[in-house]
Amino acid sequence: MALLEIRNLKVKVEDTLILKGVNLTINRGEIHAIMGPNGSGKSTLALVLMGHPDYEVVDGDILFEGESILELSPDERAKKGIFMAFQYPYEIEGVRVSQMMWKAVQSLGWDMSPVEFRKLLRSYYEALGIGDFIDRELNVGFSGGEKKRSEVAQLLTLKPKLAILDEIDSGLDIDAVRIVGEALTKAKEENPDLSMLLITHYQRILNYVKPDRVHVMVDGRIVLSGGYELSLKLEEEGYEGIIRSLQVS
Ligand SMILES: Nc1ncnc2c1ncn2[C@@H]1O[C@H](COP(=O)(O)OP(=O)(O)OP(=O)(O)O)[C@@H](O)[C@H]1O
Ligand SMILES: [Mg+2]
Repeated sequence: MALLEIRNLKVKVEDTLILKGVNLTINRGEIHAIMGPNGSGKSTLALVLMGHPDYEVVDGDILFEGESILELSPDERAKKGIFMAFQYPYEIEGVRVSQMMWKAVQSLGWDMSPVEFRKLLRSYYEALGIGDFIDRELNVGFSGGEKKRSEVAQLLTLKPKLAILDEIDSGLDIDAVRIVGEALTKAKEENPDLSMLLITHYQRILNYVKPDRVHVMVDGRIVLSGGYELSLKLEEEGYEGIIRSLQVS
């Protein structure tokens, strides 16, 4: 059974159809990358998978471990093992990283003392070079790259079955791309069953977390899929050339 199966998914936002029939299957342990021009619907897909209330599913289905999750709240989806790192992480004043994460693991039913948990959380934040950040307000005043590192540290801590990472590499300096890439590789080594859906504009992060499949989204549809080599081709030729060649053929 596939871990995630997206069937003919059509999604509206404020009366505009954004996703126009997306099909995608991710098996346990697979890494899939989605690339595509600005505004093609990549973040919309990620947010719909997580159950964002602004997005209305008008057709199709999303199955996780064989069961439809369309009726589940974001919280319930998280409990099933779906994690999402946002393209634009929310800033929440008055809530420290450690408090938010403690709440998250409590709702997941983890049996761990607060002291033990703090140690674990700190170790993952340290691995991303931001150990002290666990006592800061969530994302408040974090630089773009610090927010992304923090999201990855949360992923490492929570150990989901499926990690949806929306432009986890945007705003990262060259060293940070390596740090984040290596952290994701390590997460995968620790848990070979971890599946990932990586949304990215740049091929570089894929050198660290090599995708099994690469998909190109254009105008709310996946128009082309291939292996890792497709990401190299896109980097070289851009979307326009590839879209044109699809229209010709
Ligand atoms: N809440 C919303 N209200 C109105 N329009 C929206 C909303 N969310 C998404 N859209 C529109 O849907 C389209 C797809 O947006 P989306 O953010 O999914 O693109 P994307 O592929 O992630 O782009 P980028 O590469 O720039 O991040 C865009 O035209 C966007 O303006
Ligand atoms: Mg986006």
